[in-house]
Amino acid sequence: MKASVHGVTIAYEDEGQGLPVILLHGFPLDHHMWKHQTTALKEGGFRVITPDMRGMGGSEVPTDTISLENYADDVLALLDHLDIPKAVLGGFSMGGYIAFSMLRKAPDRFTALVLADTKPEADSPEAQKNRMNLAAALFEKGSIAASDAMIPKMLTEKTRNENPHLEVKLHSIIESTNPLSLVHASIAMAFRQDATALLTQITVPTLVIVGEEDQVTPIEVMKQMADQIYQSQFVKIPESAHLTPMENPEAFNKALLEFLQGLGD
Ligand code: MLT
Repeated sequence: MKASVHGVTIAYEDEGQGLPVILLHGFPLDHHMWKHQTTALKEGGFRVITPDMRGMGGSEVPTDTISLENYADDVLALLDHLDIPKAVLGGFSMGGYIAFSMLRKAPDRFTALVLADTKPEADSPEAQKNRMNLAAALFEKGSIAASDAMIPKMLTEKTRNENPHLEVKLHSIIESTNPLSLVHASIAMAFRQDATALLTQITVPTLVIVGEEDQVTPIEVMKQMADQIYQSQFVKIPESAHLTPMENPEAFNKALLEFLQGLGD
């Protein structure tokens, strides 16, 4: 589905009925990363909305510099368009950074939070430099530069050997994305705001999920983040690196469904 929200065309999937749960994808992916969660939540009696950030999936390619704030505004405008005043908000990695921005803008709209393999800190100068190097490689080689940089961090060696279809799927998602959109997203992440001070202000139930072998957002960083959030639950996903929702969907969905079903108890 597509909607024109504040002048930007945003693609999204909207499935199931019940409490709305909005899930924000990571970099350099799109809504397809939530396929297993969409099925499980729909069957579990929830409504699942999975937007594509500007320039990714079916959403409009940015024509000007953008920030994570723009992505956040797009998703908030999509919720208005869908007439959803309140929802559960979930974000994976870059989607988590965007969720922090949405929480800053509209804290009363979210009744619970899911933070998967993400972190509150802004980029260090070294991390910013790496993003600029990736942007240069994207100009030179196209979107495959993002596959080369990210896929080895997303999956464990074991998964890459035993489940080659998953890697093929990731190549297909990433390499069908306009490289310019990935440049925009890299720059947006490089200059994102630090969200550390926000953590102690989060009062809604929050599920924090991390892959046991995640090197991008390691267990210690995620645990420290969970400890600063008032009502948090911390779940480690076995046999998974960074991309927990796709690498171990069974364990991820179990944690997610248990959390959602426990809301309001
Ligand atoms: C992601 O998975 O969205 C990225 O790893 C986030 C990042 O590069 O900081």
